[in-house]
Amino acid sequence: MTIKPDTQQKTSSRMSLPEHITEIKDFLTNAGLPDIIDSAVILGSGLGSFGDHIEDPISIPYTDIPSFPDSTVIGHSGSLIFGSVDRSSVLAFSGRFHHYEGHPISKTVLPIQLSKAFEVDKLIISNAAGGINLRYKVGDLMIIDSIIKQFFMISEPADKNWSYDMEESAAKVKEIASDLGIVTQMGTYLFAKGPSYESKAEIRAFRYMGGDAVGMSTAPELAEAGRLGLRAAAVSLITNAAAGVVDQKLDHAEVKEAADQKKEVFAKLVKGLIREF
Ligand code: HPA
Repeated sequence: MTIKPDTQQKTSSRMSLPEHITEIKDFLTNAGLPDIIDSAVILGSGLGSFGDHIEDPISIPYTDIPSFPDSTVIGHSGSLIFGSVDRSSVLAFSGRFHHYEGHPISKTVLPIQLSKAFEVDKLIISNAAGGINLRYKVGDLMIIDSIIKQFFMISEPADKNWSYDMEESAAKVKEIASDLGIVTQMGTYLFAKGPSYESKAEIRAFRYMGGDAVGMSTAPELAEAGRLGLRAAAVSLITNAAAGVVDQKLDHAEVKEAADQKKEVFAKLVKGLIREF
């Protein structure tokens, strides 16, 4: 995602981060984290094992961090892991705060705001998503080149002077993936509120709207990254066909299984992005 922040917004006081973000950063720097970090990675459902690739890790459970909400979903361990990958400093969020767990959208974007506070240069966002596009198969990696974010509001009503364009960064992610021999799809991520999976009719409607994959995270995070002028790459792992695409009931075990099978390729791509994005 190449973000084209509005120059007016750059100097606006609305760009300032919530106060609790400064408190969290202070807590973390006291725990040994540096003031500036090269990359931040948000690990989607079942993709937390990327944490094992981080060298000299400092791992802090979310529950130990003041002002951090709890993340409760199965498959999310809920900890912050700081360390290095190929000599580059990395902050990994293993576990997110979903709106469907009861967190307001403004809290779900905490990892983005914290990334901004650490002045990260590269933000890498991943998620598990249902495939709406009929050409997608379970296990495909979809680079997000656009989002449909009509179902939530991220900025304050008057804070509308920002825009972003993800296509340039999606092309860069595609190039990095190709160089590593990783085959990817590229498409639009549509945010659904959850907590239940979608109905068949909703998926039909989402397909008409232009969604290629559906999930319950990421779009608010990308919108916030756009608002804050952070460069972001985003990748969905297609863990299941969305409702009605195949005649099969959806469950979370399927999401975990698909993520497990793809974890090495996913780790290779994330490492490539840390190096070159
Ligand atoms: N719908 C919404 N969120 C998801 C899905 C889905 O089918 N799969 C993984 N996350």
